[in-house]
Amino acid sequence: MQTLRRKDILGLEEMSAEEITLILDTARSMREILQRKIKKVPTLRGRSVLNLFYEPSTRTKASFELAQKYMSADSVSVAGSSSSLVKGETLKDTVRNVEVMGVECVIMRHPVSGSSHYLARSIEASVINAGDGMHEHPTQGLLDMFTIWEKKGHLEELKVAIVGDIRHSRVARSNIWGLTKMGAEVVVAGPPTLMPLDMEGLGVKAYHRVEEAVEGADVVMALRLQKERQESGLFPSLREYADLYGLTPQRIAGAREDALIMHPGPMNRGVEISSELADGSRSVILKQVTGGVAVRMALLYLLLGGAKEE
Ligand code: CP
Repeated sequence: MQTLRRKDILGLEEMSAEEITLILDTARSMREILQRKIKKVPTLRGRSVLNLFYEPSTRTKASFELAQKYMSADSVSVAGSSSSLVKGETLKDTVRNVEVMGVECVIMRHPVSGSSHYLARSIEASVINAGDGMHEHPTQGLLDMFTIWEKKGHLEELKVAIVGDIRHSRVARSNIWGLTKMGAEVVVAGPPTLMPLDMEGLGVKAYHRVEEAVEGADVVMALRLQKERQESGLFPSLREYADLYGLTPQRIAGAREDALIMHPGPMNRGVEISSELADGSRSVILKQVTGGVAVRMALLYLLLGGAKEE
């Protein structure tokens, strides 16, 4: 078994196709554990993990916590809103204090882009970025690739259309970096006001009409409107956004018949995606969530040296 030769998982921009392949292969082994009646292995016994969330989360937090429990790690979760941050403590001091209690890996979600890189430079423990501002959400990108890979058998030469608020989406950035490295063609679509300023640097084709972007697509991925990161006036109203950019069976009629329908969650039904698509036979939205546990188990295993110990 190979190991990752890195201390931290901060983004897919800096990760190689070989590393991504190793993580996806390891996640496949972890998924076998998830199919057992008793989902418990001793792999990370005696290892300590901190989950530090400065923004709300359901899927990422729960799946990391479950991954830690299934692998017998000792873990503690701290929410930013109930931590000593509110008394004025800095992020660095918070984590240094927890590090001297024996924590070997910190999983952090934070509203500031680059915060995970800062933390990784400040402490000896491994850092896994669980979403930093508008920058990256690498574990989401990995679980999205894992879901596509499981369903399609490969990633190279697939056409993936990502639709919605590309500009504020860390999920879009991680998927663009990861999927293009793995040989997929990625196109994006959304209102001009929700397109990134560094669009050319991302190296993907952008459309303003969803119908054009999804033509022949193997995968259609809707993104959540990141209202918490948007200034006002970027689009007239939710109704108008839904009318022009919301995914419906009619709007994606040009995609392949067997196209996978994805959404990272949480979904705004009737805005980014219709219930008919979200709950339809082509939807893999809940499979993404299951894959998230397997991918996060794989990352903990690879980073915390389960492989080395064996
Ligand atoms: N996809 C995702 O990050 O979901 P949560 O915000 O619920 O963790």
